[in-house]
Amino acid sequence: MSASTRILFVCLGNICRSPTAHAVFEQRLATKPWAARVQVDSAGTGDWHIGHAPDKRAQAAAERRGYRMAHLRARQVTPDDFNQFDWVLAMDADNLASLQAIRPASAKTEPRLFLSLLPDSTVTDVPDPYYGGEQGFETVLDLIEQASDALLAMLEETA
Ligand code: 4NP
Repeated sequence: MSASTRILFVCLGNICRSPTAHAVFEQRLATKPWAARVQVDSAGTGDWHIGHAPDKRAQAAAERRGYRMAHLRARQVTPDDFNQFDWVLAMDADNLASLQAIRPASAKTEPRLFLSLLPDSTVTDVPDPYYGGEQGFETVLDLIEQASDALLAMLEETA
């Protein structure tokens, strides 16, 4: 890993999936001796929830597994994020398309799907839980925990 690695998780609203990824990954990262060399953030492709805390249902589901995310506040992704971050990880194909549409041609970082870090996964998208029931938030956590461990393993190889 280089001296510092910056990771940005992106979904649509930045109130359900990407703050969940932010909290899960950051908490698992904290167990690593090289944690201080990695910075984590999250953002949304949309602007509806700028400044808002994570969705209460996402917070409750995360808290049941010991993750705290109440302190996070939503922001919108910017073209400059592609220069600031080494990894820009989209939760689903729509988010990825929105990111590709705003990425400056000269930017160093290409966005990719978070679940593409799971080579054997048949699931490519973290499904949007916003309009569904409680189980959707559990599925989000299951997928995000798996992909976070895959990302940690990749970073560890070069740590
Ligand atoms: P997220 O979920 O992209 O995982 O934060 C959503 C949050 C809000 C909306 C859609 C999805 N919304 O339509 O406001």
